[in-house]
Amino acid sequence: MIYKFYQQRIFPHLLNQVMKTPSMMQARAELLRKVHGSALEIGFGTGLNLPFYQVEQLIALEPNADIYQLAQKNVLNTPFHVQHIQASAEKLPFADNSLDNIVSTWTMCSIAHLEQALAEIHRVLKPEGTLHLVEHVQYHDNEKLKKLQNILTPVQKVIADGCHLNRNIELYLSNANFKFLEKYYFDAEELPKVGRRMFMARVQKV
Ligand SMILES: C[S@@+](CC[C@H](N)C(=O)[O-])C[C@H]1O[C@@H](n2cnc3c(N)ncnc32)[C@H](O)[C@@H]1O
Repeated sequence: MIYKFYQQRIFPHLLNQVMKTPSMMQARAELLRKVHGSALEIGFGTGLNLPFYQVEQLIALEPNADIYQLAQKNVLNTPFHVQHIQASAEKLPFADNSLDNIVSTWTMCSIAHLEQALAEIHRVLKPEGTLHLVEHVQYHDNEKLKKLQNILTPVQKVIADGCHLNRNIELYLSNANFKFLEKYYFDAEELPKVGRRMFMARVQKV
């Protein structure tokens, strides 16, 4: 009961605040600079990417209605068309090879069945389509922090709606048959060390 209240009434507002640190907003701008035409964003959240899009059409896929509610006002003020779809990335309601761009910003940490979601993204992307992503990830060069990420992930999942601190997103993408057009790691200095390591990439189907 209390947990449900937290998830529905408190967590969406927390999310809306913590996801807009200066380096996260800078990363959003950098990622979306190269997204044109039409795009699908998975895990649209509270719409914090909206100011950075230069698209004509956006499909905002967000399964959590309590979270999407906070995006609605911003959606109304966008100069392009936004269509909300309440669905999960594990089962994308699109035809094979049909989408030009898919965007994920700090969503892959929270998807319960990430392999399945990546298989779906692979299925619906056009052969020349691009998945653009920025995610917080597992450390690969600091054993102490990597261990801490493993220890804290079960707690993080409870307080942050299923978020894993310890996912190796680069490996997930390689295993899902994507090739990298661009990739780099950086640290979001203003965040706690355990969630600071970021991975930005643009990938296409092999
Ligand atoms: C940490 S938030 C990030 C929100 C937003 N992408 C941003 O950059 O601010 C993770 C988001 O992923 C969504 N999410 C969780 N599981 C999902 C799934 N299986 N498919 C699609 N989105 C999912 C959550 O509802 C939440 O909006």
